[in-house]
Amino acid sequence: MADAILTATDLVKHYPIKGGVLRRTVGHVKAVDGVSFQLMRGETLGIVGESGCGKSTLGRLLMRLEEPTSGTLDFDGIDMYSKKGSEMRKLRRDIQIVFQDPYTSLNPRMTVGDIIGEPFDIHPDVVPKAGRRKAVQDLLDMVGLNPEHINRYPHQFSGGQRQRIGIARGIALNPKVLICDEPVSALDVSVQAQVVNLMEKLQDELGLSYVFIAHDLSVVRHISDRVGVMYLGRMAELGNEDEVYQHPTHPYTQALLSAVPVPDPTLRGKREQIVLTGDVPSPANPPSGCRFHTRCWKAQEKCKVDTPELIERPDGVGAHFSACHFAEPRLVIETVDVSDVEPDERFSSTEVVDPGALLERDGAATTAADDVVSDGTQQGEPVGEPDASREDVFREEVRGDAPDRRDI
Ligand SMILES: Nc1ncnc2c1ncn2[C@@H]1O[C@H](COP(=O)(O)OP(=O)(O)O)[C@@H](O)[C@H]1O
Ligand code: SF4
Ligand SMILES: [Mg+2]
Repeated sequence: MADAILTATDLVKHYPIKGGVLRRTVGHVKAVDGVSFQLMRGETLGIVGESGCGKSTLGRLLMRLEEPTSGTLDFDGIDMYSKKGSEMRKLRRDIQIVFQDPYTSLNPRMTVGDIIGEPFDIHPDVVPKAGRRKAVQDLLDMVGLNPEHINRYPHQFSGGQRQRIGIARGIALNPKVLICDEPVSALDVSVQAQVVNLMEKLQDELGLSYVFIAHDLSVVRHISDRVGVMYLGRMAELGNEDEVYQHPTHPYTQALLSAVPVPDPTLRGKREQIVLTGDVPSPANPPSGCRFHTRCWKAQEKCKVDTPELIERPDGVGAHFSACHFAEPRLVIETVDVSDVEPDERFSSTEVVDPGALLERDGAATTAADDVVSDGTQQGEPVGEPDASREDVFREEVRGDAPDRRDI
């Protein structure tokens, strides 16, 4: 078997719902309800699903920021949920998290140096006190920020730069696994691309394994080796890029893919859009059997009673994990990964909407000149090309009209 660094088995997290004057438990929010998967060493596992399906809860369980209701988590041969006190603290070093919102996740009253160096206070044996300033400056440099900005405050940085600070903090203790909870969702599309490229670079340099959470299948495609699609606290489908994007067998994945922007403008309007009817049911009262049955166009009686297992099911080419009784491949749209194509050849139109393509295109610029901070100060620094004129790089960035991904 391939070398797994993290093995989650049947992870469950139910939050009690309190009600009445006596604040009795009147029910449970089944945020994560039986999730199993493995994260291989050095791989990126993307986790996608609509808001509220339990992605962040899963992320917190993987770090043991929350105690599970049940289930086990094996980290590099260690049963993580059985560890206590100093043993657990030591393990924490190896699994770190980067949060979604770079605006609220950094303490506004702390300098960047203090924010990035804080993990060293918690784990003082990692870097001796005298070497901490240098260690923080090295981290700033690694994430493409100016080491001289160590005494600045978060508000003096742009959104993308703040996320770089979050990443620097995440890698400060030299972890093995980084849980990235929607690390680019709050950022503008061109900035997303730069941050994702930075994360890929760091993964190569540091041999990290990532769990990369997003609500958008297209962002995850670019960075992930494998992708897991979640629905209402469960995993609906799990496979490698080709399996999930070209041969999805779960109706939910097929519906999500039908809403992903199409890279080729000539293909637009030609694919079939699967519109899901009905709202996402409440995780406090999830549907019986297959949780997707209230919105699935293929649902039959069996789906209401029997819970489909996440097992390998034929996908037309081979087989991959799908939790659908009636799993069958359906090509939603012919999409291509444009990673190897020269940027100029990729777009026949200026109306570029594919974030995956943008990731590559913007990656070519290799700058960290993310955007303009609110007071108009220029904060951009070139990454990897220290000789390039910072101002030029900055202007280049702000001139390019990157489409706002929030409307796709
Ligand atoms: N601490 C909590 N207490 C009660 N319910 C919670 C808590 N955290 C999350 N939930 C609920 O669990 C479900 C999953 O939430 P979350 O993991 O944040 O989803 P996602 O990250 O996919 O948007 C939601 O219904 C949310 O309201
Ligand atoms: S098991 Fe039934 S309801 Fe669930 S996804 Fe498959 S066909 Fe749809
Ligand atoms: Mg979340």
